[in-house]
Amino acid sequence: MEVIIQSSKQEACALGARWIARLLRQKPRAVLGLATGSTPVLLYKELIRLHREEGLDFSGVTTFNLDEYLGLAPEHPASYHHFMQENLFRHINIAPENTHIPDGQATDVPATCRAYEEKIQAAGGIDLQILGIGGDGHIGFNEPSSSLTSRTRIKSLTQRTRQDNAPFFEKPEDIPQHVITMGVGTIMDAREIVLLAFGQGKAAPISATVEGPITASVPASILQFHSKATLLLDEEAAGDLKRAEYYRWVHDNKPDWQKV
Ligand code: F6R
Repeated sequence: MEVIIQSSKQEACALGARWIARLLRQKPRAVLGLATGSTPVLLYKELIRLHREEGLDFSGVTTFNLDEYLGLAPEHPASYHHFMQENLFRHINIAPENTHIPDGQATDVPATCRAYEEKIQAAGGIDLQILGIGGDGHIGFNEPSSSLTSRTRIKSLTQRTRQDNAPFFEKPEDIPQHVITMGVGTIMDAREIVLLAFGQGKAAPISATVEGPITASVPASILQFHSKATLLLDEEAAGDLKRAEYYRWVHDNKPDWQKV
């Protein structure tokens, strides 16, 4: 697990975007795993800039999003379908048929989840998975106590996560109780993982993820088992890390061939 601490979320997102751009230049038909929420918004803005100003090409790219609220139509302003259209897809040259987000209106949820897993397999697996982290350590919508080997399935949100996401809904009772999310095992199958976390509210889950024990109580802690997981943090999210100085030193003293 590599921890990279940047002075601001702008810098962290610029680095994250360069990371993705490097992959797309090496592998134009790459498969990306994408996240929603407030964390990746700047990352997506930077990808849009790279597309417009430097010709970053998404025409061969396939994407799979982590999750979607159950019960929301794609055009609902709080749905993750809507989020992805507005924050990324409609601004880049990605083929709509290459973008995948779990179906929030699924009637046969288990079959929908199985089909999602099969589509990821058929695409050759995820090359690079982008993640945010919940205040309780969730990744995707795998809330604490989620099986660390889980696959795409229905989950019930905790009250805390529903409260965190309340600003996106008009009334508290509009916030869905259920979601479809990639499982922890699905996420761990990605060949590479980049988790972004910004702000003081993420300091506790980040320190538990990096320096705590691996536990289903902090689902992100399983990333300690991933051979290519990188955390891109701002100073505030890194605020509780005991070995922050070491992580900084490692990053500042990388050999040139390892730099992005
Ligand atoms: C979103 C997702 C979630 C968020 C997490 C953090 O697709 O899977 O795990 O990444 O809830 O949300 P923000 O970024 O809004 O703090």
